[in-house]
Amino acid sequence: MNITVVGGGYVGLTTGICLSHLGYKVKVVEKIPQKVQMLKEGHLPIYEPGLEELLQESLKQDRISFTTDIVEGIDFSQVIFVCVGTPEQEDGSADLSQVEEVARLTAQHMKDYKLLIEKSTVPVNTHKLIKKTVQRYMKSPIEFDVVSNPEFLREGNAVKDFLEPDRIVIGVESDRAKSIMQEIYKPIKAPIIFTDPATAELIKHASNSFLAMKISFINMIADLCEKTGADVKLVADGIGYDKRIGRAFLDAGIGWGGSCFPKDVKAFIKIAEDHGVDFSLLKEVEKINAERIDRFIQKVKTALWSLKDKRLAVWGLSFKPNTDDIRYAPSIKVVSALLKHGAKLSLYDPKAMNNFKRLFPEGKDLSYAQDMYQALVDCEALLILTEWEEFKKADLQKVKELLRLPIIVDGRNIYEPSKMREEGFEYYCMGRS
Ligand code: UDX
Repeated sequence: MNITVVGGGYVGLTTGICLSHLGYKVKVVEKIPQKVQMLKEGHLPIYEPGLEELLQESLKQDRISFTTDIVEGIDFSQVIFVCVGTPEQEDGSADLSQVEEVARLTAQHMKDYKLLIEKSTVPVNTHKLIKKTVQRYMKSPIEFDVVSNPEFLREGNAVKDFLEPDRIVIGVESDRAKSIMQEIYKPIKAPIIFTDPATAELIKHASNSFLAMKISFINMIADLCEKTGADVKLVADGIGYDKRIGRAFLDAGIGWGGSCFPKDVKAFIKIAEDHGVDFSLLKEVEKINAERIDRFIQKVKTALWSLKDKRLAVWGLSFKPNTDDIRYAPSIKVVSALLKHGAKLSLYDPKAMNNFKRLFPEGKDLSYAQDMYQALVDCEALLILTEWEEFKKADLQKVKELLRLPIIVDGRNIYEPSKMREEGFEYYCMGRS
């Protein structure tokens, strides 16, 4: 089977490359010519563990191709995965102009049956707008279907999440579309949940909002633990063993970021509002998350008193480990706040420094280090913003020797407080003492 994927961003590339790995002939349509060139040469414009290797294997076996020409993509296959961006607009709603464009161009150029599959995260009932657009622009009546098949890919884990998902959600109306979708996902062993398209669209926003809610919930518990002497990690374990709750996404810290949660929670609040439903619960979830930054800065101030002219090391800039992505990363707000307080920063991240440099160029108050130890030189304290594996394995004696003062403010709870005290550190973390 031939498959077209429109959109060579994070979702489109993971979808296209993984489908070609499963044996399909895939064509990815991407507007930016430089990206297409890079991909043709076997290089990814994003960092995602394992994905570049699969791309190179697929290129070698001639199972994947790239083009800037959407008409070539439409002609290539009956099946079109729509993976274009749906960026956030000022009012929180998603900008669906790229989705509309794919629907319109498909309608104008289709010669036979097409199956349009929504992968991009879209508001509930977008499938209806896609259908209407295709009907409006098609030159003669041709059969087509629109399916909602949301992605649940975590950055850093996307290949595994695609090939071994917990579930596959397919919102479909016709038997023809259902059997094509069954065929596509045959090689993947996972439960398939068939729903109507509106339900599938809603599942995506509901999943991400629920996960964000879990994190905000545990972050409030962390605040309470700090006031009472309880330990948030043990609370998370204690409640997480209950199968109805589950332990995942109960790690307290400086809050959720990334390209999905902030955008999806905001969009979901707006979607509910547009349908006359006041989802104020999610507004609180957002508010709690925003407050994490202040709470972390407060901790740094408690540890160091005045921050003016203090040189501080920062480990971790990406919104989470195993990615170079800094979109909505808590580090952006933390670094801005520290600079505003007059601190001088020495930053290090294993993958995200180049992206971060575009927002925060090197200057007299801010430098980037070659490695995590070099970042510590002449610093009064170390602040940890992302839980990269290499930080967890750091040589703590060396850290102590390199820092001017043995102070660590850990926004991700990567060390055991009691062990840190034994090692001679003044150690501040989230919801533990
Ligand atoms: C998320 C969803 O998990 C995925 O299913 C969806 O389709 C895309 O959005 P991603 O944005 O890659 O994936 O990151 P995720 O691993 O979900 O983490 C999101 C944020 O929550 C990160 O900033 C992370 O640091 C934070 N987080 C996660 C916590 O603070 N605590 C936790 O326990 C888990």
